[in-house]
Amino acid sequence: MRVLVTGGAGYIGSVATAMLLERGFDVTVLDDCSTGHRDAVAGAAKFVEGSVLSTDSVALALTGCSAVFHFAAKSLVGESVEKPDLYFDVNVNGTRNLLDQMSKAKISKLVFSSTAATYGEPEVIPITEEANTKPTSPYGTTKLAVDKMITEEAKSGLAAISLRYFNVAGAYKSKAGWLAERHNPETHLIPNLLRSTRDKPIKIFGNDWPTKDGTCIRDYIHVVDLIDAHILALENLASGQHKIINLGSGGGYSVTEVVSAASKVLGRDIPTEIASRRSGDPAVLIADISLAAQCLNWAPKRGIENMVRDTWESQNASTSK
Ligand SMILES: NC(=O)c1ccc[n+]([C@@H]2O[C@H](COP(=O)([O-])OP(=O)(O)OC[C@H]3O[C@@H](n4cnc5c(N)ncnc54)[C@H](O)[C@@H]3O)[C@@H](O)[C@H]2O)c1
Repeated sequence: MRVLVTGGAGYIGSVATAMLLERGFDVTVLDDCSTGHRDAVAGAAKFVEGSVLSTDSVALALTGCSAVFHFAAKSLVGESVEKPDLYFDVNVNGTRNLLDQMSKAKISKLVFSSTAATYGEPEVIPITEEANTKPTSPYGTTKLAVDKMITEEAKSGLAAISLRYFNVAGAYKSKAGWLAERHNPETHLIPNLLRSTRDKPIKIFGNDWPTKDGTCIRDYIHVVDLIDAHILALENLASGQHKIINLGSGGGYSVTEVVSAASKVLGRDIPTEIASRRSGDPAVLIADISLAAQCLNWAPKRGIENMVRDTWESQNASTSK
């Protein structure tokens, strides 16, 4: 089976491409390399450089495919506030174009990268898929709009699963070397705290939250566990159905716990600095992952130390891309 991986030059999409190939799938990648890297795409994948907004590029990329993993998107919360039009265009119009071209090519299997940002500030923890969706950023709003679009599309036969990721972390050692986060700017905690120095300590935004150690709690999932869930989702698609499923660890880690894990892996203290709380930051974001267990027979296998160690090794490896 050939799978189209949109956004396959990005962090998560490049890991998906490598893991699919290693498990015997054929892969075509469609990416405009706006935030991704051509050299992250495994050599055995067919590569189409182009945008999800281009009818011709999407039609070309879909040739010979039977299913789609749709990762391509703009995904920075802060940037989405500054450039909401860009986010609506790429995320919503780009997905509309993809769905139209899939329908023309009679391809009816889709696994979509949704996000915890569709929920906004939670009223109940852990967050289930039944929770209210009140995104607090244009990024979350666009992803929610796509989830709704897919629900409509499933009424005409599409088989789809939206996976709502919490914080993805870690790296994957593919046959060709490490695949890891190379975002610019990097907004994610783990790669940033591994680069923390005495001159530039990592900022902890508030140590007076109502949590066990006063720092915010977030739910982290290893990128390999995440892609395992995608492959299980592909095997569990049902015609005319759109399922929405959370992916996280189901537990969560405080910022202090993540810093401690990093300190243990590196064998030294991580320089930190307490800064004031950021407005709009909820104290705790934890996924309820029971639906993923029930529908996909999936459970995360890798904890926070594993995520930190793999990120660290990928940053240091000479083969790192
Ligand atoms: N990283 C996380 O923690 C996280 C959490 C929740 C959801 N997600 C979602 O997962 C997906 C992948 O995230 P990531 O962290 O790998 O981001 P990324 O920026 O590394 O990857 C996105 C890829 O999409 C490509 N792309 C962007 N616009 C495009 C366009 N118009 N046409 C074709 N390709 C385009 C980029 O070049 C890049 O390679 C995104 O949809 C994101 O919203 C990520």
